[in-house]
Amino acid sequence: MGESNAEHIQKKYDTEIFSLLTTIWGENLHMGLFEDPDEPFDTATERATATMAADVRFKQGQRVIEAACGIGGTARHLARTFGVAVEATNISAMQLDRGRELTDHAGLGHLIRFSYADYHELPFADASFDVWWCQEAMLYAPDKERVVREALRVVRPGGRLVLSDLLFDAAMPEAEREPFMQRHGARHFWTIAQYDDLLARLGPRILVRRDWGRHVLPTFESVTTRFIAKREEFAAKTSVAEVDTVVARLAMQRDAARLGRLGWAYYLIAA
Ligand SMILES: C[S@@+](CC[C@H](N)C(=O)[O-])C[C@H]1O[C@@H](n2cnc3c(N)ncnc32)[C@H](O)[C@@H]1O
Repeated sequence: MGESNAEHIQKKYDTEIFSLLTTIWGENLHMGLFEDPDEPFDTATERATATMAADVRFKQGQRVIEAACGIGGTARHLARTFGVAVEATNISAMQLDRGRELTDHAGLGHLIRFSYADYHELPFADASFDVWWCQEAMLYAPDKERVVREALRVVRPGGRLVLSDLLFDAAMPEAEREPFMQRHGARHFWTIAQYDDLLARLGPRILVRRDWGRHVLPTFESVTTRFIAKREEFAAKTSVAEVDTVVARLAMQRDAARLGRLGWAYYLIAA
């Protein structure tokens, strides 16, 4: 039998080199919203979460499902700041374990539960959450309509969906899309126009829509600087070849961002 999409992603995320790369991103495996390109990377990634969260207007005790939670940086931010209960879901066993560890260490275990779930098929009842949240993870989803339908199903009427994703800008040449995705490791990049079309077709009300494309370059520049500083340490733990592959991939990502070929968008949607 062929490898499923989830198996392919698990294989990528549950490797030593990827977990080392994760340490470079910090607790947030997502884009940074920069006020100054030289500011600390963690400040920018936290700002992205905080900016979206401010639009939601959380109330203490609300229930949030985070789809594709990484190692739980956002879940901890939401639980700590607003006192909400977060079901943090992912298909990477390694990231779920790391998320639990960091959450226990932060004393937030009573507010956050980590569990395995593919965002295409959530093991939760209809209308069981107030908010569904997904950051920089839909680029791995082969069936985005199904993911959004699942989000609309598990959130109560009047609840909210928060969605951000790394995208192709329309400027990315067609012929370069497939090779870029192959090397990036995420095989399902969309454009903002595709998201607009899907959401228009499914019909929920869009409350906020932001094009944050200009922040992609500073994000990959920061990650590169931090990764290069650890190059030798990481090569000793994995191999020179694996480290070089990451460095080359980061160069490809920076080049594409510099040419305006990558985008980043954020939507707040009423369920
Ligand atoms: C770039 S990381 C973003 C993580 C997190 N949202 C954050 O902002 O820190 C992408 C995440 O998507 C997860 N993922 C990929 N495919 C998934 C799927 N089918 N269902 C659930 N999670 C998935 C990966 O395991 C990874 O944690």
